[in-house]
Amino acid sequence: MIKFDNITKSYRSGKVKIKALDDVSLAIKQGEFVLLNGPSGSGKTTFLNITGCLTRITSGRIWLADREISHFPDHFLSAIRREKFGFIFQQFNLISGYTTWENVSIPLLPMGVSDKMRKKRAMNLLEELNLETRADFYANELSGGEQQRAAVARALINDPEIILADEPLSNIDSENAKTVIAVLEKLKTKGKTIIISFHDSQPLITKLIDRTVYFDSGRIS
Ligand SMILES: Nc1ncnc2c1ncn2[C@@H]1O[C@H](COP(=O)(O)OP(=O)(O)O)[C@@H](O)[C@H]1O
Ligand SMILES: [Mg+2]
Repeated sequence: MIKFDNITKSYRSGKVKIKALDDVSLAIKQGEFVLLNGPSGSGKTTFLNITGCLTRITSGRIWLADREISHFPDHFLSAIRREKFGFIFQQFNLISGYTTWENVSIPLLPMGVSDKMRKKRAMNLLEELNLETRADFYANELSGGEQQRAAVARALINDPEIILADEPLSNIDSENAKTVIAVLEKLKTKGKTIIISFHDSQPLITKLIDRTVYFDSGRIS
């Protein structure tokens, strides 16, 4: 489903060049639940951003469902991102001037979905995440755990084939974590492809994991 061949990613800051990813090759099958593990700074976030077409590689090749997308123009990659991926960021990234349901439905805006339908789909997901009572609260009125659950709902609103989650349990308590894990479990049952990163071990999700990929200084083992 997704294949990475010898990808590298370098960042330049002034005269210093950082190799965030160094010759990474990996193939991820449809429906696989893959854990990216490794210390802070090892390249997990960079890898997820590249997978979700948010960042470009420096060299190498990427295939998505048999199409090589490495050299696609930006507007094409944005379209792929909107259609195929749901991204759960470590830092929630909700917009504070918007209510919870509005935040959740933001990915539908460029698709021309009606307001009524956007709200309906957002409410369905908010119910699934036990957050329907917070639908009309502004994002800044939510607790950290509620914000993360809203961010999970937002990542799922376009019914993505592939879900990317960057340390999704790091900033929330165990009760909220349980709700997020239950949703991940349901997504796995539905056959979604899930790639999730953690810098430490997460016993609560061990049973969901098909494969663990270890990152160390931009390389995988
Ligand atoms: N935008 C950026 N500019 C410069 N360096 C970056 C940037 N993003 C990440 N890096 C560097 O790339 C390396 C990998 O970072 P990252 O992918 O965030 O690792 P992880 O998610 O495993 O903590 C680190 O050395 C980090 O400092
Ligand atoms: Mg990271």
